[in-house]
Amino acid sequence: MKKLRVMMLVHPEMEPLDHLTDRKDPQYLKRETEIDVKRALLKLGHEVLVVKVHDELQPMRTAIEQWQPDIAFNLLEDFAGDGAQDFYVASYLHMAGIPFTGCNPRGMMLARDKALSKKILHYHHIKVPEFRIFPYGKTIKANKLRDLPYPLIVKSNIEQGSVGIAQASYVNNAGELLSRVEQLHDMTRGDAIAEQYINGRELYVGVMGNQRLEVLPIRELSFDEKATQEQRIATYKVKWNDRYRDKIGFKYCFAKGLHNSTRAKIETLAKRIYRKLLLSGYARLDLRMDKGGDVYVLEANPNAAITHDDDLALAAKKAGYKYENLIERLLRLGLQARSA
Ligand SMILES: Nc1ncnc2c1ncn2[C@@H]1O[C@H](COP(=O)(O)OP(=O)(O)O)[C@@H](O)[C@H]1O
Ligand SMILES: [Mg+2]
Repeated sequence: MKKLRVMMLVHPEMEPLDHLTDRKDPQYLKRETEIDVKRALLKLGHEVLVVKVHDELQPMRTAIEQWQPDIAFNLLEDFAGDGAQDFYVASYLHMAGIPFTGCNPRGMMLARDKALSKKILHYHHIKVPEFRIFPYGKTIKANKLRDLPYPLIVKSNIEQGSVGIAQASYVNNAGELLSRVEQLHDMTRGDAIAEQYINGRELYVGVMGNQRLEVLPIRELSFDEKATQEQRIATYKVKWNDRYRDKIGFKYCFAKGLHNSTRAKIETLAKRIYRKLLLSGYARLDLRMDKGGDVYVLEANPNAAITHDDDLALAAKKAGYKYENLIERLLRLGLQARSA
């Protein structure tokens, strides 16, 4: 690949500072993705300019005018602290004529909204949990609470990374539901979504590509066999606290024992979900498969986490991509999307 001038877009608090070298340092861990990606880009021989973006477009504009990057590596997950606005950054890059890694703005916007994406998938006969939305700032009318398929999982409609997911997110009745919705409203200042709880295996499927799609080996959050149904969720603590996860016997691993036909079915489904949500670049799809083998979509994560030990990178590694090769693949897809 030709050597590129890569403008890395990062949150100001995630700047990959060169003096951080100790992987156990909390300051390092906080910026691990940025450090991993920058290191890989340099190793590939590219030039890197880190641009910090919070609530202004100006830093990007200045970099584009003065440094003339070939491509932006988009590691932003919000704009001005708002996750729902991350797609504006991709829109800006598009308008500025700069290729960028990851998803196009339309796909980002559709997938970020858990309810909107489920409406689209349902239209295409893809299985999604039944759900109801509880808008922030609106009083909840009694009829909204009728005929709900308990137990439910209550979560934020747009937050990611299990923010707001705890044991109390699993609710059995209207009282528990209302109290959790209220807590989420206070915590996130955004809409809450209550979904039918899907009991089953939790599968994560990485997909890369624009037109031609590559589905990566399937990952899984495996639960301890003694865990009760309501304990089987990726709470914030389960997702981010390795020691706690070990303690309760949960494990992120490759999905084992799936029949070839089941694997093939999940791969086909993953491509359909990716296409129907207009995704591009790379994404991780969070799915649940029940005992009968029916697969439901929990959510799609365009520009999913790509630290070296995140599911997407581990799955890519199993598919034969060394970390640098994964980063190079994402660059290529970004360049290709622009010229398509
Ligand atoms: N409908 C559901 N049925 C069962 N578990 C769910 C459901 N929705 C969410 N969960 C659990 O909560 C976790 C986080 O939900 P998810 O929709 O993936 O949000 P996030 O964006 O925080 O990752 C999931 O990984 C899963 O363990
Ligand atoms: Mg998820």
